[in-house]
Amino acid sequence: MTAFQLGPLLHEGKAKRVHATDRSDLVAVEYKDDATAFNALKKASLPGKGTLNCQISALLFEHLAGLGIPTHYMGLGESANWMLVRPVRVIPLEVVIRNLAAGSLCRELPLPPGTPLDPPLCDLYYKDDAYGDPLLTEARLERLQLVTPEQRLQIEALARRVNDELRRLFDSVGLLLVDFKIELGFTGAGELLLADEISPDTCRLWDQAVADSQDRILDKDRFRQDLGGVVEAYGQVLKRLQQACPEPTVYR
Ligand code: TMP
Ligand code: ASP
Repeated sequence: MTAFQLGPLLHEGKAKRVHATDRSDLVAVEYKDDATAFNALKKASLPGKGTLNCQISALLFEHLAGLGIPTHYMGLGESANWMLVRPVRVIPLEVVIRNLAAGSLCRELPLPPGTPLDPPLCDLYYKDDAYGDPLLTEARLERLQLVTPEQRLQIEALARRVNDELRRLFDSVGLLLVDFKIELGFTGAGELLLADEISPDTCRLWDQAVADSQDRILDKDRFRQDLGGVVEAYGQVLKRLQQACPEPTVYR
C-alpha cells in the first residue's frame, strides 16, 4: 500500500515538474534530465542528470534537516528521480551565497575567479525569467514587498547557516563549495522552509585535489562552458557525498 496517490501536474519548470498528490500536505517533484543555461538560451537533455540531482538534493536536505534546518523535503519517491516535499508558496527570490568569486560576480566586478570572499557575499536576485532574474538592491527588494524586513533578515541568516553546514560537509569529501543558490518558501502556516533543490545545477563545486581551473569543475559550469563530462561530474559529487552521508529514506 502506498501512502499517497499521484495527482495532476501542478507546475513545470526548466529542471523539474511538480505534481499534486491526493494529500494536501504532500506534493511530488520529478527531476528532469533537461539542462538549461543563460535563461534557457542554451538547452540540452543529459540522460541521468535528473536522477543524480534528485539523489544529491535528497541527501543534502536530509543532512540539513538533521542539523535543525527546516526544509520542504519529506523523502525520496519510489522512482530514483522523484521526491516528496511539503507544498510551499515559493518566494520569487534566488538567494546566492558566494565563498569565492566566480561566474556573474567576475563578469560584473573586478574580482579574479577564485578570490576568497570573507565574509561570504549574500546576493538576492528577483526570480522572474521575463526580467532575466536581476540582482536586487535593498531598496528594490523593499519596493517589491516580497518579504518583510524581518523575513529578509531571517532568509539571509538561514542561507548563511546552510552555507556553513554545506561548506563543512563538502570539505569533508574534498570538494570546495564556491557558491550556491537556494530558494525558500512559506507553508500555509507561515513557516519558512528551504525549498527547490540543492545540486550541482545550483552550486559551484571544485575538486580540491585538482589544480587545473577547468578540470576541477564538478558542476553545471561544465555545461555552461561546454566542457563535457557533465553527468560524470555530477556522479562524482554523489559518490563523494555517499561516503559522508547515509542513504536517503524512501517516503512511505
Ligand atoms: P552566478 O555566478 O551565475 O550568479 O551564479 C551563482 C550561483 O547560483 C551558482 O552556484 C549557480 C547558481 N545559479 C542557479 O542555481 N540558477 C541560476 O539561474 C543562476 C544564474 C545561477
Ligand atoms: N537556470 C538558468 C537557466 O535557465 C541558468 C543557469 O543556471 O545558468 O537557463
